[in-house]
Amino acid sequence: MKKWTVMMMVALFALVSAGMVSAADYVGVAKCKMCHMKQFKSWEQGKMAKAFDDLKPGAAADAKKAAGLDPEKDYTTDATCLGCHTVNGKADMPGVQCEACHGAGSDYMKMMMTNRDFKMDEIKAKGLVIPDEATCKKCHNEKSPFFKAFTFDKDKAHEHFPLTKQH
Ligand code: HEC
Ligand code: HEC
Ligand code: HEC
Ligand code: HEC
Repeated sequence: MKKWTVMMMVALFALVSAGMVSAADYVGVAKCKMCHMKQFKSWEQGKMAKAFDDLKPGAAADAKKAAGLDPEKDYTTDATCLGCHTVNGKADMPGVQCEACHGAGSDYMKMMMTNRDFKMDEIKAKGLVIPDEATCKKCHNEKSPFFKAFTFDKDKAHEHFPLTKQH
C-alpha cells in the first residue's frame, strides 16, 4: 500500500512537472500588434508577412516551374511547405508572423503586460527569442526549393525602433 502511494505520487509529480515545462502557445500577430504597432506596420509591408500566399495555386508560377514544382497545385495543405510558410505548420497561422522569429508568445506576453522592468534573462526563460542568424536559417536553408544563399541582416526582418527601456 505504501509503495503504491509512493508510485502514485511519483507519477503525479511527473505529470505536473511535464505540464509546467510544456511549450508556450502561439497567440498570433493580432496580439503583438496591440503593443507593437510600429514593428507591425513595417513587418506587414514585407514579403514574409504574405508568405502563405506563395502556396496558393497560380502564385509565383514561373518561379515554381523553374524549381520543378507544379504551379497549378494547391500547396496550402502540404505539410512540407507549411513548416516554413506559417508560424505553427498550420494554415490557421499563415505567413512568417512575429512568433516565427520571436518564439511562442503566450508566456512572455504575460510578462510584458505586467512587468515592463523585466530582465532579459527572465523574459527569455518565458520563451522570447531575440532572433539571430540561426533563427532565420531554420527556414532560409537548402530545404527551401528556392534557396540560393542567405546573408543575415537583422534590418531585413522589419524596421527597428528604440525601446523605452534597456532590458
Ligand atoms: C518561418 C520561416 C522563416 C523564418 C524564421 C525567416 N524567414 Fe525570411 N522568408 C521566409 C519565406 C517563406 C520567404 C519568402 C517570402 C516570399 O518571397 O513570398 C522569406 C523571405 C525573406 C526575405 C526576402 C523578402 C523580403 O521581404 O525582403 C528576406 C530579406 C528575409 N526573408 C529575411 C529573413 C531574416 C533576416 C530572418 C531572421 C531574422 C528570416 N528571414 C527568418 C521564411 C522565413
Ligand atoms: C525550409 C523552409 C522552406 C520550405 C520547406 C519551403 N519553403 Fe518556400 N520559401 C522559403 C524561403 C526561405 C523562401 C525565400 C527564398 C529562399 O531563400 O529560399 C521561400 C520562397 C518561396 C516562394 C517564392 C519564390 C519566388 O521566387 O517568388 C514560393 C512560391 C515558395 N517558397 C513555395 C514553396 C512551396 C510550394 C513549398 C513546398 C513544396 C515550399 N515553398 C517549401 C522557405 C521554405
Ligand atoms: C523574420 C524575423 C522576424 C519577424 C517575423 C519579426 N521580428 Fe521582431 N525582430 C527581429 C529581429 C532580427 C530583431 C532585432 C533583434 C536584435 O536587436 O538583435 C527584432 C526586434 C524586435 C523588437 C525590439 C525593438 C525593435 O524594433 O527592434 C520588437 C518589439 C519586435 N521585434 C516585435 C516584433 C513584432 C510585433 C513582430 C510581428 C508584427 C515581429 N517583431 C516580427 C526579427 C523578426
Ligand atoms: C500588452 C502589451 C504587449 C504585448 C501584447 C506584447 N508586447 Fe512585446 N513588449 C511590450 C513592452 C512594454 C516591451 C518593452 C518595451 C520597451 O521597453 O520599450 C516589449 C518588448 C518586446 C520586445 C523587445 C525585448 C527587448 O527588450 O529587447 C520584443 C522582441 C517583443 N516585445 C515582442 C513581442 C511579440 C512577438 C509579441 C506577440 C507575441 C509581443 N511582444 C506582445 C509589451 C507587449
